[in-house]
Amino acid sequence: MKFYIKTYGCQMNLRDSDSAAALLIEHGFTPAEGEADADLVILNTCSVRDQAERKAIGKLGFLGKLKRERPWMIFGIMGCMAQSRGTELLKSIRHLDFAIGTDQIHRIPEIVEQIAAKHEKTASFDRASAETPGIDSHRFDGAESPHSAFVSIMRGCSRYCSYCIVPFVRGPERSRPMDSILAECRTLAAHGVPEIFLLGQNVSAYGLDNTAPPPDDAPSPFGELLKGIAAIDGVRRIRFTSPHPAYFTQALIDAFTQTDKVCKYVHLPLQSGSDRILKLMNRPYDTAKYLSITDRLRAAAPGISFSTDVIVGFPTETEADFQATRALMDRVGFDNAFIFKYSPRKGTRSAQMPDDVPQEVKEERNQILLADLERRAEAANKKLVGQTFELLVEGPSKRNSARWSGRTETFKQAVFTPDPAHPVQCGDFVRVKIVRSTATTLYGELIPAEKTN
Ligand code: 5AD
Ligand code: SF4
Repeated sequence: MKFYIKTYGCQMNLRDSDSAAALLIEHGFTPAEGEADADLVILNTCSVRDQAERKAIGKLGFLGKLKRERPWMIFGIMGCMAQSRGTELLKSIRHLDFAIGTDQIHRIPEIVEQIAAKHEKTASFDRASAETPGIDSHRFDGAESPHSAFVSIMRGCSRYCSYCIVPFVRGPERSRPMDSILAECRTLAAHGVPEIFLLGQNVSAYGLDNTAPPPDDAPSPFGELLKGIAAIDGVRRIRFTSPHPAYFTQALIDAFTQTDKVCKYVHLPLQSGSDRILKLMNRPYDTAKYLSITDRLRAAAPGISFSTDVIVGFPTETEADFQATRALMDRVGFDNAFIFKYSPRKGTRSAQMPDDVPQEVKEERNQILLADLERRAEAANKKLVGQTFELLVEGPSKRNSARWSGRTETFKQAVFTPDPAHPVQCGDFVRVKIVRSTATTLYGELIPAEKTN
């Protein structure tokens, strides 16, 4: 049976889809090119914003047409929307065969085999422990990125930010034992993967499941994990997303800045630059605390780069609140940011507040932040011209296949023209000198390997 998985949403979903694919392959299924030549199609869904849900529901409708042409096909949904609305969708969408929750990935092959035999609709939404066999499987057939592997270090979230649906759909925080994560990283390194990308909803709270934010001088289990992974031969770069500012203690700052293999780039969700809005969001830090983290990180690692998530148009957000966000973003000097227009999610605390910022104002604030960002990124990248960086090679550039593309330690995309005498491969490290830049891309000249030592 040929399968195809379409993934919506965040990196966590990409990781879960790869894990599901690895398990299906282990059970004799084969990957299809697309949904039209598949016998089994699974949508891995997202609930974080209303738009993400609408996209997946539209796609499910479209898949009904395929079912008419290929009646033997099996359709399933997994991920956050499957967890929260799976029962309702199974009832209302005739061709939908199964819905499984975010902790039931390990059961997919068995569920599909049962449906193929009995043609009964199936649902499974139970919670699993963070150490469930199969749930963290990887594909080693080259389909997962050969240069960087996602490793999920915890499941769920217990922060209950007032706008966020994640704790309701993904359940409470459950950290995996450190030994098990280290074993997974060792296996990936043994397969030649040089970069480990750690994932969790709140990675800075790794090992502190369901506890209130610690004092700044508390030990950091996440910092210990970073050091443990850095000690693995073959691992050359370590990245992670997303840490929560309230759990970014001095011990974590020290582990981060003192461990060479940990890339000097942090995606640190800010959400708002107004202390009043942060309180309403149930984000237990203020802008002073946020700045004290970014300032301490930058003091210890001067070339560091930051990115963030920001929500515009949260209930009651005034022009002054918005300007505070703008000013703070400028002060930190984010290289990148994901800007979201607030949308109320059913069941969350903020959904009880009036969604009182008009859509046009949300749109306008979104555009202003994007324009600020572009201006800032252009100026910051210009300053890098003339500097030399090590790139982890990711493959031929999408725009121009004569060029190859890679990332600096600070997660900036850089392109270069390989030397035909020394072909490069995905996963190689090369050195380039930056000769030109735009807001999004650095253009580099390859420094021949013999000149680097
Ligand atoms: N509306 C808009 N953005 C949201 N996010 C989470 N919930 C909402 C919501 N209800 C954003 C946050 C989070 C990112 C993944 O999505 O910024 O960090
Ligand atoms: Fe959602 Fe907040 Fe948890 Fe992030 S930390 S997943 S925004 S509840």
